[in-house]
Amino acid sequence: MERNNAHTILVTKTVQQVRDQVRAWKKEGLSVGLVPTMGFLHQGHGSLIKKAVEDNDRVIVSDFVNPTQFGPGEDLEAYPRDFEADRAFCQDLGAAMIFNPEPKDMYQDPKAYVNIEGLSDGLCGASRPVHFRGVCTVVSKLFNITGADRAYFGQKDAQQLAIVKKMVEDLNFPIEIVACPIVREADGLAMSSRNTYLSKEERQAALCLSKAIFKGQESIREGMAAKDLLDLMGEVIGQEPLAKIDYIDLVDARMLEPLDRVQGKVLVAMAVYIGKTRLIDNFIWEEK
Ligand code: PAJ
Repeated sequence: MERNNAHTILVTKTVQQVRDQVRAWKKEGLSVGLVPTMGFLHQGHGSLIKKAVEDNDRVIVSDFVNPTQFGPGEDLEAYPRDFEADRAFCQDLGAAMIFNPEPKDMYQDPKAYVNIEGLSDGLCGASRPVHFRGVCTVVSKLFNITGADRAYFGQKDAQQLAIVKKMVEDLNFPIEIVACPIVREADGLAMSSRNTYLSKEERQAALCLSKAIFKGQESIREGMAAKDLLDLMGEVIGQEPLAKIDYIDLVDARMLEPLDRVQGKVLVAMAVYIGKTRLIDNFIWEEK
């Protein structure tokens, strides 16, 4: 693969700028990878960017806090932002472009939305009813704007990944979705831009999520039944006074349908409030 680390990363603000640059790359026969993000980048995002740089001649990182995926009363305004740090991070990892539009450049009184039925209703969709419609809409726009050959998504947001895969299948987007494993802090906490909301005490309490995940992985390996598994994981979280469970569920990994027993490829996913901060974590298990 051709690398372009020596170049200064291109910062684009408008759809037209992205289109013009991608057209030039495609004319040269170069492949394009896309890493959609909401910025405040960390090593979790970094792993996606690195993989994209390995696989593609040119990589675009989109850095856009997408208003349509936040519900009323959610953290749209508070969401952390640091564009200069993100730009430097992407440049160091060898991305060719960082696309950082303003909301007005992405949405002009929109009437079209992309909604993936069924898969968006459970898990995080139950408490965030407009979230996945917003995600699918912005991701569709980014696919259309960039014309990328491949797009990279983290297993950290397992429901988002399953929904995006189904959207690409159902709507025939000419793009390959590449899934990347969860990146964790040394003590187990899954990396997230939202971890910055946690106080010192809450940061410690947040370890109950990964503890429950590791316990769940161990127990499923030993053949524990679905209900006992979810109860056990709930108990691990229940021991932490600052934690409040939104959900812990076991579903089919592809269609996200609830399962009452461990069967085929399953997703065990959870959302837990630590104080006011809602955190998610999950694992996939496939019967051999
Ligand atoms: P954001 O939360 O910024 O995440 C961007 C991508 O990074 C997602 O695919 C997410 O799964 C991945 N990611 C985040 N933390 C990770 C971790 N610890 N390990 C591995 N991958 C991780 O997800 C979004 O933004 C938005 O919904 C978006 C898809 C950009 C649409 O607005």
